[in-house]
Amino acid sequence: MTHAIWFMTGLSSQRDMIRAIKTAVPEITIVASHQQPRYEILAEADYAYLEPALSLKQTHANTADIEPMLVFMAEVVKKHQVAAIHVGRNSGWFEGHRTTIEAWGVTLITGARGLTGFAIADNKLAFANHMQALGLPVVPTLGAATLAELEQIFQRQPFGETDFCIKPAHGIYGMGFWHLDTRARLVDADTKRMHPDIYLAAARLDSNRGHEFCPQVVMPFLPGIERSVDIVIDQGKVITAVGRCKQDAIQYFERSGAAFELALACAEQLGLDGLINVQTRDDASGKPLLLEANLRPSGGICFSLSSRVNLPALFAQYVTGLRSATDIQAQVAACFTPAYVRSTSTVLPLPLSLPSLNALPLPGTTRLPLAATLDLETI
Ligand SMILES: Nc1ncnc2c1ncn2[C@@H]1O[C@H](COP(=O)(O)OP(=O)(O)O)[C@@H](O)[C@H]1O
Ligand SMILES: [Mg+2]
Repeated sequence: MTHAIWFMTGLSSQRDMIRAIKTAVPEITIVASHQQPRYEILAEADYAYLEPALSLKQTHANTADIEPMLVFMAEVVKKHQVAAIHVGRNSGWFEGHRTTIEAWGVTLITGARGLTGFAIADNKLAFANHMQALGLPVVPTLGAATLAELEQIFQRQPFGETDFCIKPAHGIYGMGFWHLDTRARLVDADTKRMHPDIYLAAARLDSNRGHEFCPQVVMPFLPGIERSVDIVIDQGKVITAVGRCKQDAIQYFERSGAAFELALACAEQLGLDGLINVQTRDDASGKPLLLEANLRPSGGICFSLSSRVNLPALFAQYVTGLRSATDIQAQVAACFTPAYVRSTSTVLPLPLSLPSLNALPLPGTTRLPLAATLDLETI
């Protein structure tokens, strides 16, 4: 078995994960690729590529032989003898081609096996209904597929006097989340608080101007502590996990408690697979409720290094066959150390010129040359 792992276009933590793995397990070869010339990510890997554009319309396996992405992937897998491919974006497309990809002798990690997990996790209403059916505590969730439905929900006041909140059914990064509070003033917009009448007026204005309504979910606003649990999981079997408890700007780590157990139960019940993240929030009585499951690593996955648990490195060791689940569990039990952290912002200086990256056409304009290796030495 080879010890090469390939990270394809991911979300916010791709760079941090590659660095974390490289530092802890230098014997693992890391290949990285991206749809865009993201120097700060690609320069961290041993080998880096720009990906060909993905034609999302062709999702059926019988189009496999004409998919430039699959041709490109087969080439990279063969060249570096990749043992595992991690995808963090357009994961449903890769999932649809799992059979073709795994026939090359590689493990594909998308966050779930089969499209059902994606359908549930991608839709906050479906997720809440599914969790409720499983008997797992989840925030009560109402769906509004149209503006008329939203207006009705606002009128009915289904949560009584409790503050409520709204967010897109298919959201990410907290975009479109609003805490709807009749006491909110204009200055509160910075803290994502808005008067419900203002929200409705804005939604109507959008509609009058011809903008399509994005399905929303409406739910009680939970005033308690929020947690984000990063989980290494193999087809519904938890390998290891670290929870982060968020209190204002401070976060601390934990590996036990009702919220932690709830997050693991959710991941197991959904049969998730890879490096994923489940979020909970406490209600007014302090009881944790499920908020959402993300079938990808969280933006803060590498914060866990401060608790002496390097989740990305353990994940990479597991999927490349370097370490067993038992071995990983013993190490985490021995190393985990509670710690407090505060997230800071920083910048990365780029070289004045990026010749290799700039020389390549941007995705979507011209078909990229297959296996366009970036000569990182010259950057
Ligand atoms: N019911 C709720 N009560 C209080 N805060 C919430 C609630 N739902 C979401 N939030 C806040 O909004 C953020 C984004 O919501 P989340 O469900 O995680 O969607 P996404 O991350 O996909 O945008 C959460 O991290 C949390 O801080
Ligand atoms: Mg979230």
